Amino acid sequence: MSTNKNRKELLRKLSRNLMVTLPMMTVVTVAGFNTGSGSFVELIPSAEAAQGEAEGEAKGEAEGEAKAEAEDFAKGEGEAEGHAEGEAEGEAEGEGVSASLKKAVRRPEGYTPYQGNVAELRAKGEKLFNDTSLSSNGLACATCHTNGMLYNPTFKDEYPHFVAMGKRDFGMDMVHLDEMVQICMVAPMAAEPLEWGSEELAALTEYARTEQKKFIDK
Ligand code: HEC
Repeated sequence: MSTNKNRKELLRKLSRNLMVTLPMMTVVTVAGFNTGSGSFVELIPSAEAAQGEAEGEAKGEAEGEAKAEAEDFAKGEGEAEGHAEGEAEGEAEGEGVSASLKKAVRRPEGYTPYQGNVAELRAKGEKLFNDTSLSSNGLACATCHTNGMLYNPTFKDEYPHFVAMGKRDFGMDMVHLDEMVQICMVAPMAAEPLEWGSEELAALTEYARTEQKKFIDK
């Protein structure tokens, strides 16, 4: 009688452990898959994977992984760029984006976007969205944004609109879609911003518009 009770208790504990362990293993495996490296554990410390899990951001393990990675890059960026420019905003978070980068992601004075055939731009944009050579760290836009990953609900709002990352890291109250492309270029992609008025920027912006439509319809 009491042995049976003990066994039940043990089983309950085991299954609880399994429930914690399995999603973490998935997270770590996905991380290894993305980077193509053999050593999963070193890539994403399981503590971080666990944290992503515990936070229950809850749209699947892949998203948790990409988020942990995004946070890593945000941190790395902060350290790399981190010279105190004496600007108050964002500094509370300890992430310093240089004044020149803050300026570089904003539409320049008298800016005219590249004009082209929308369907062609969209097709070019889709290629660029999947192109890891756009970044300096091996990421493509799609690494983070496949299946609508990592977008906040504010992505559904009409542009220009508030974006948490734009405010926190770049001190921007409102962000245009092409500015958002530039923000993701310099922050998570750790690259130079694209030339304002370039076909590449127009193409990525056009493709991001289709991303927004998909996100709204989801
Ligand atoms: C390392 C992960 C990562 C990569 C790579 C990345 N992004 Fe993002 N992106 C994010 C995160 C995180 C957010 C959410 C920002 C927020 O809402 O504060 C975001 C948000 C966005 C948004 C929506 C912003 C809004 O208006 O709500 C767009 C559009 C976008 N990214 C485009 C791109 C493009 C284009 C690229 C490639 C040039 C790219 N991203 C690469 C992490 C990434």
